[in-house]
Amino acid sequence: MLKQRINENGQISIIIPTYNESENIIKILHTIGEILPKNVATQAIVVDDNSPDGTGKLVEEYLKNVKKMADYTIEIIHRKAKDGLGSAILNGIQQAKGDTIVVMDSDFSHPPQIIPKLIESIKKYQYDVAVASRYIKGGEIQGWSLKRKAMSKFATLIAKKGLGIDTKDPMSGFFAFKRNIIKGLNIDAIGYKILLEILVKTKNVNIKEIPYTFQDRELGSSKLSIKTIFDYYRSVWKLYRYGKPLEKQEKRSSVKFLYKAGRFYTVGASGFIVNYMISLLFAGGVYDLWYLHANVIGIIASITTNFILNKTWTFNDKDFGIKKTISQYGKFAMFSSLGALVQLGMVYFLVDSNDISYPFALILAVITAAFGNFVLNKKWTFKEKLLG
Ligand code: GDD
Ligand code: MN
Repeated sequence: MLKQRINENGQISIIIPTYNESENIIKILHTIGEILPKNVATQAIVVDDNSPDGTGKLVEEYLKNVKKMADYTIEIIHRKAKDGLGSAILNGIQQAKGDTIVVMDSDFSHPPQIIPKLIESIKKYQYDVAVASRYIKGGEIQGWSLKRKAMSKFATLIAKKGLGIDTKDPMSGFFAFKRNIIKGLNIDAIGYKILLEILVKTKNVNIKEIPYTFQDRELGSSKLSIKTIFDYYRSVWKLYRYGKPLEKQEKRSSVKFLYKAGRFYTVGASGFIVNYMISLLFAGGVYDLWYLHANVIGIIASITTNFILNKTWTFNDKDFGIKKTISQYGKFAMFSSLGALVQLGMVYFLVDSNDISYPFALILAVITAAFGNFVLNKKWTFKEKLLG
């Protein structure tokens, strides 16, 4: 009971990112002050990205002149440059003192009248997250073109199906949450959608959605750009892979072995192309070297690209310590040459002394060399168990 009390009286922080919002920011700060529940300490944090229209200065001026209220303080974070909505929100959260955090836009698209309902869901009904939602009964969007509506719907669909989210409006930029649910999480805030990231990365949180009408802004202009959309899909992809490392935690060692072999030979095929292109390029393409010299350069280039791809991709080894990398590279090059020698030797031996036809001998030799190459590199260059 006591604990609940403390919680109900805990401070609230409202994060308001701004970029060129000089026409809206003072009015929204004022409106928030008026509708807030009384007797609860509330901190509004404006996060401004050095807006060219002087939004930051405007807020500073306002703070000098406005009468201080006991329960409602306003702060501003000045960032040097436009670093994106997601990271602005994250900065605000880092500075927030409240145990309940509200995030909202500054352009009146998110009606401040909803704030008390969000806070009530968290404090009174003990939800972990409260989302102001356009996509549940009672919610809607006003002032958006059909195209923008469709884009939003599509992005929402991707998030829900791709990431397995039940929340109807996971793309909402208007929400509240208990600060402690993100403790220890690594939030990277690419692009727009902080809420989506929180929903994916937190476990067993209970979520309440509250309908509201999104009103497109009347003043100023939207900051959504092509880059925003690109960032969005990049962040969904990153979230999709969250907690799913290489091989999607496959446990059967035989499957892992085949999986890595597949990567190893894909790299091999790419090396073949590199080898061929570079060898051509240096024998007349851009430089006019003797064709054997050009071929040596092609071989070295392909061994190098093969090595880098196998190290980082096939064997997932991101440690590029100088000594270690050089020693690995040496082994890798040695095994590659060894493979070539084994192949030559086998072809000679099979054809010459056993009367096996050349094409068939070649197949056997190539398979042996390729298999040996993979196994040797797996075990000795990248120090893995043979199986697994
Ligand atoms: N500090 C900072 N830095 N603020 C930014 C930046 C930035 O790079 N980009 C945008 N903002 C601020 C704007 O000033 C505004 O207060 C808020 O973030 C939202 O930007 P808008 O440009 O108005 O976004 P919108 O109306 O297109 O997008 C809305 O729809 C999304 C749902 O589809 C926003 O409400 C989003 O929050 C919402 O998720
Ligand atoms: Mn807007």
